Amino acid sequence: MSRALERLDELYAIGATRIGRSAEEDAAHALVARWLEEAGLEVSVDAGGNTFGRRGDARVWTGSHVDSVPNGGRFDGALGVVAAIEAAERTQAQLAVVAFRDEERGYGGSLAAVAAGGLPDAYLELHVEQGPVLERLGVPLGIVTAIAGQARGEVVIEGRADHAGTTPMDARADALVEAAALVLRARDAAATAGAVATVGRLEVEPGADNVVPARVTLSVDARAATVEELETLVAAIGFAPARRTEPVAMTGAPLEALRAVVPGAPELVSGAGHDAAILASAGVPSGMLFVRSLNGGISHSPDELSSDDDIELGIASLAAALARISR
Ligand code: GLV
Ligand code: MN
Ligand code: MN
Repeated sequence: MSRALERLDELYAIGATRIGRSAEEDAAHALVARWLEEAGLEVSVDAGGNTFGRRGDARVWTGSHVDSVPNGGRFDGALGVVAAIEAAERTQAQLAVVAFRDEERGYGGSLAAVAAGGLPDAYLELHVEQGPVLERLGVPLGIVTAIAGQARGEVVIEGRADHAGTTPMDARADALVEAAALVLRARDAAATAGAVATVGRLEVEPGADNVVPARVTLSVDARAATVEELETLVAAIGFAPARRTEPVAMTGAPLEALRAVVPGAPELVSGAGHDAAILASAGVPSGMLFVRSLNGGISHSPDELSSDDDIELGIASLAAALARISR
């Protein structure tokens, strides 16, 4: 087994659930800091809790995140950090490896880095595809050209608690029935727009078998490839996003370096969000290299899988791209 896969196992042993700002995410960052030190990089932690390993003036950053969704997989985020350390050891380029905090819940770490300033001249992120395109094409690596925009928010639907046995159906104000309509509206609006929308969290109050639901709080995650499509989708679902990231293009030296080191690689738009989207939106020319996801591309699941060979190719390509764009 390669050292990269061994390290992914070590991170996964901390827990399949490493929510941002939890003890498990802290432990993952401590482990990453140790690996960065062993790689001879100068370790620091910024005000947002992001862990860096620097060599030289580090005007180029590469990395990803080591938090996870609840019961996530081994590769999402973690591979980008582990691969960045491997790549850093294969080149003498001046660079920083970064493990961002709290990516899954809304890019807390990379947003904090942007707010703090001191951004690099370029950012390169290796990540698993988290979809089936590369597996279907039968190719190990892909190049990301753009990252879809996201709007996330919460909707609270108020109804009225009432007796489940004595209240006629036409006399109810059932908050969960209204929530169900919103879930279906989100599905239909996204399908019509060629976009995606998800209600992934639902809280029903008071939450008893024999009480008509009085209040439902639900999350909405809506994504689309263009600003116009995202706006139409949000309006059709009918929610006020609390957080929004705009669709953003990968550009400049990082994109061209990837094109040069993986000639002919398929080019994809990422439906998943990434720290690269936050840096690119802040004006940092950014590039992303996707490694083939197996098992039909499943992700945000313990069934995530990528092969040792594909990962090795990804690391070699990342190292070559870093050598091109770093001093
Ligand atoms: C974050 O990684 C997301 O796309 O949900
Ligand atoms: Mn990720
Ligand atoms: Mn994820």
